[in-house]
Amino acid sequence: MRTPLVAGNWKMHKTVGEALRLVDALLPLVAGVEGVEVAVAPPFTALHAVGQRLVGTPLRLAGQNMHWEAQGAYTGEVSAAMLAEAGCAYVILGHSERRQLFGETDAGVGRKVAAALAGGLTPVVCVGETLEERDRGAAFEVVERQIRGALGSLGPDVVDRVAVAYEPVWAIGTGRTATAAQAQEVHAFLRQVLGSLGGTERAGRVRLLYGGSVKPYNSAELLGQPDVDGALVGGASLEPETFASIVRFRV
Ligand code: 13P
Repeated sequence: MRTPLVAGNWKMHKTVGEALRLVDALLPLVAGVEGVEVAVAPPFTALHAVGQRLVGTPLRLAGQNMHWEAQGAYTGEVSAAMLAEAGCAYVILGHSERRQLFGETDAGVGRKVAAALAGGLTPVVCVGETLEERDRGAAFEVVERQIRGALGSLGPDVVDRVAVAYEPVWAIGTGRTATAAQAQEVHAFLRQVLGSLGGTERAGRVRLLYGGSVKPYNSAELLGQPDVDGALVGGASLEPETFASIVRFRV
């Protein structure tokens, strides 16, 4: 019922030339895969060139961040319209690296979600607890606060217009992935929270991606969970063969 979405978050990796070589290598490897939507999120500088390369292919383009204003004196920022025109269908919002290193807040993520939707982009809203929060039993409380902060003031209609990525901070770039059971437990909880915001029907349509050290060897088990509807892949998305084998998790 929910088509899985496997998205590669390239973070601050790849020049324009490197990005084009990566998608050129990736396209034939994922060409025949059915029943999975695939997206890549290159850095801003490479978006337009990669977007041109992806025209007419099933591979979708995503931004890694954006500003909530449509335009203005915001040095260093880009708008939803700029991303959309570069070819983006998606934008990653509220990634834990943005929250931890660049001071993004739940309220700011909420403003970005509204601006992304208004600009025709599908937000991939990231939530996830730190190790300290998990150890003191606060994981559920944290992700609930984050998801309510992002969507709570936007009304029930927005709920099924976003994707949500659960990325436990302790699993990002550490090689320490959540177990499939841990991921499923939080995803099921997130779907409940989404249900309280937008009703169970809408919540049932939302794709919940897992992120944090997703690799070819663990992707089938993670993506086999009933409420895990895709993956947000960091390090393993930088190598075409590795990313393609995650996309082919069913094979
Ligand atoms: P890794 O797959 O490198 O752990 O990164 C996950 C992530 O942050 C994707 O957004």
